[in-house]
Amino acid sequence: MSYSFFATAAKGTEPALRDELREIRVPGVRADRGGVHFSGELRDAYRVCLWSRVAIRVLLRMGEIHAPDGDALYEGVQTFPWDEHIDATRTLSVSAHARDSALTHTNFIAQRTKDAIVDQIRTRVGARPSVDREDADIQIFVHVLRDRASVYLDLVGESLHRRGYRAESREAPLKENLAAAMVRLSGWDRRKPFADPMCGSGTIAIEAAMYAAGIAPALARARFGFERWASFDDAARAHIADLRSEARARAEAPTKMPDIFAADIDPRSVALTTKNAQTAGVKLTTAVQSVFELGPVDPPGFIVTNPPYGVRISGGENFEEMLADLFSSLHGHTVSVLCATPDLENAMRARPTRRQPLFNGDIECRLINWLIP
Ligand SMILES: C[S@@+](CC[C@H](N)C(=O)[O-])C[C@H]1O[C@@H](n2cnc3c(N)ncnc32)[C@H](O)[C@@H]1O
Repeated sequence: MSYSFFATAAKGTEPALRDELREIRVPGVRADRGGVHFSGELRDAYRVCLWSRVAIRVLLRMGEIHAPDGDALYEGVQTFPWDEHIDATRTLSVSAHARDSALTHTNFIAQRTKDAIVDQIRTRVGARPSVDREDADIQIFVHVLRDRASVYLDLVGESLHRRGYRAESREAPLKENLAAAMVRLSGWDRRKPFADPMCGSGTIAIEAAMYAAGIAPALARARFGFERWASFDDAARAHIADLRSEARARAEAPTKMPDIFAADIDPRSVALTTKNAQTAGVKLTTAVQSVFELGPVDPPGFIVTNPPYGVRISGGENFEEMLADLFSSLHGHTVSVLCATPDLENAMRARPTRRQPLFNGDIECRLINWLIP
């Protein structure tokens, strides 16, 4: 049976997710705003849940309906085959978003959707699932845009960016899925030396190392949302168990790893990076040092980093100008920096090879790549 899915992504990371889903070899991959569509069987989506580093959620699309009012929404939602995934013993919760539509009250949209689902199941089997707002077996999302309601089931449960290796955070950590997207968007080939000289809690370097080592990003997760669905039968259980043991074998297989270097001026950040890398099961070369001690490596490698914003260095010259001097001297290296201001780009002596708008939380940034001549 073939379904439509939508994998959600942080704004700007859609091209990275599209390329990743093609590599995961799922059919019908098509990038859109906020994520990437794909199609296939449930087991294709299970693979995405286990292997996508860039996706935030993976949603099964139940369908789309014209919903100018609550009754049309109710009737439309009732046409979907809910009993395939939900039975009367499960709990569910519905959350809704609406934009540019006659239906504006998200609580009302969620309520009508929930009523349509539980009424359908009650009519068919004489009992209804109950609602659990805290920890439902099945999470349903409704997005109403210009009076069209798209209805989804969430396969993931806890957001996929939570890999489980980050115990605590220091200053402004990047979300894991954004760091993984930066690694991809830098164009790194997983072989050349890799460095993050301002590593904070180490997210970028750890994501690079997990990618190079072939460690499935969700391998440490105890269970996915879909494992609580009615459609999660013995065959599905056996399938995800196989996918997990394949992933475990791949993570344990010896891999020729490139050198992955993570440094920070703050010793507590470096200690945290080391601890997080250990939890993630990867080895990094670390150092407590200033970024200005970074030199070229042979063969030339990739520098992917997320500098602090708005730092002033005593002596008048600003941090970005000093960084531009350093990076512009690393001949043959690829430098990829998450920039919140144009200062670094203006001071660089090379032209960017790519500029990708990205959002770090609410802060609009650009990931800018330079191949230093
Ligand atoms: C925005 S944070 C990086 C966050 C990181 N990407 C993460 O996910 O945790 C910037 C880091 O740059 C470090 N830093 C500031 N000045 C530095 C310098 N001159 N040399 C090296 N690191 C520096 C800070 O200690 C901080 O950890």
